[in-house]
Amino acid sequence: MLQDNFARQFSYVRLSLTERCNFKCQYCLPNGYQACSPEPALNLQEISNLVAGLVELGIWKIRLTGGEPTLRRDLLEIIQLIRSFPQIKTLAITTNAYKLGAHLDEYIAAGLTNLNISMDSLNRERFYQITQVDKLDAIQQTIQQALASNLQQVKINAVLIKHSLDELADFLTYIQDKALSLRFIELMQTSDNQAYFQENYVSAEVLRAKLQALGWIEQPRQYGAGPAIEFRQPNSIGSVGIIAPYSKNFCSSCNRLRFTQDGALRLCLFGDENYSLRHLLQNPNQREELKASIIKCMGNKSIGHQLAQAKTGNIMNLSNVGG
Ligand code: 5AD
Ligand code: SF4
Repeated sequence: MLQDNFARQFSYVRLSLTERCNFKCQYCLPNGYQACSPEPALNLQEISNLVAGLVELGIWKIRLTGGEPTLRRDLLEIIQLIRSFPQIKTLAITTNAYKLGAHLDEYIAAGLTNLNISMDSLNRERFYQITQVDKLDAIQQTIQQALASNLQQVKINAVLIKHSLDELADFLTYIQDKALSLRFIELMQTSDNQAYFQENYVSAEVLRAKLQALGWIEQPRQYGAGPAIEFRQPNSIGSVGIIAPYSKNFCSSCNRLRFTQDGALRLCLFGDENYSLRHLLQNPNQREELKASIIKCMGNKSIGHQLAQAKTGNIMNLSNVGG
């Protein structure tokens, strides 16, 4: 299995399918998507060559991210292609769900196993304020559709901002009777969102204290689990997770690598290192070279990010590296 110099093992890849997005989340793309990469996204053949190398390195979980991955017209083919590798046991997608409802059943039939839907507010006006899209109802219908399907897991992502705490009771009621895992993600500072960050950041510790006061119990970490801390409450079917990149030890459980939409390996969301491997995705015969390059890059993965020193790496916003 892929390993770095700090004995962390990597079996999970986040693959960005596009930088484009149709939302204008205030913390991410407040002015909407502006093209900044001159490179087109990887095509099906390149994705196929990439995944063929990854499975031989022990990767068994892939998450499709963006931007907004459902904007790819060939998403169905991408799902089919990735699941044609029997080694890939889990194929997840992180999406704003705007365009998902109409195609979800086809994606599941093609092999999608896990779904993360972003929903930062349960209040229609506030949802609109954050995303500039008035689609909360449709998104909640899609969540119901997902819950009624045979997906292995459905999660909701909500970025943790000061307002989320006012809505905590509503969020907890929403998941009480649903098999959902609601993840609060600490707001991360990027070079594009400095002012928003100063105004809206709240530490996950505040949320943790509130959950504990309401009888939510922190669950022991599972071996090989990612960085989320899980909470459960006996009266709730749904669970809550906290993803707190600013917390101590966050990086010690890192189990993921990222590929940008144009085929660069990114070792850390908040690092500066992007290694373009696209030239090795042009021909299936380059697989050994591709694998050797990935293994070599792993030696450069640093022990952790330096967010506490406000060093965000070369990240402008999360739409260009796929969260
Ligand atoms: N901080 C925290 N989460 C973010 N996301 C996008 N930008 C940020 C940020 N600056 C979230 C999205 C989505 C997930 C992929 O990342 O809301 O749920
Ligand atoms: Fe789009 Fe996701 Fe960024 Fe929102 S957070 S603008 S949905 S890429």
